[in-house]
Amino acid sequence: MAEQAVEAKAKPAKDKDKDEATDTLWSRRDFFSLAGWAGFVATVGLSSLYFLRLLFPRVLFEPSPLFKAGKPDDYTVGEVSVKWIKDERVWIVREPTGIYAVLAICTHLGCTPNWLKSEGKYKCPCHGSGFTMNGVNFEGPAPRALERLKISLAPDGQILIDKSKKFLYEKGEWDKSEAVLKV
Ligand code: FES
Repeated sequence: MAEQAVEAKAKPAKDKDKDEATDTLWSRRDFFSLAGWAGFVATVGLSSLYFLRLLFPRVLFEPSPLFKAGKPDDYTVGEVSVKWIKDERVWIVREPTGIYAVLAICTHLGCTPNWLKSEGKYKCPCHGSGFTMNGVNFEGPAPRALERLKISLAPDGQILIDKSKKFLYEKGEWDKSEAVLKV
């Protein structure tokens, strides 16, 4: 033991320097090796995140423009149903000639008019535009009639409304077969 201590003490200064140099070199190697691995891991991590991001593209999921509005018999001839105003902003009107869907968006600046049953008209609360029961503008600043929506009968016998397809009175589109459901 004592001999080893003496030996250690007796180690030449040159060897000591060599050991220190080797230690420093290894430290640097360790450092660069560690940094390399860290870079590699970061690159792989970022690439994986990018790949995952591609799997989930940025898409806005909008509500479906289609909705079912019950059976034709749920609607009374000569009446405007306000059943779908809150959820869909649509009136369903049944006349002797058929059923049609009116979009409850004022053609002036987009407010939601109210159906005034006693007066037989839609009245916009914003600037006073008025529309007849079938949707034609007759008072106030609204420049054109309300829009109608595509209406059909689904295989299960329910009325199917498609809000993505609109029919404009001024273009003569209300007469199109998809604008009215003959029942
Ligand atoms: Fe309806 Fe102006 S938004 S009258």
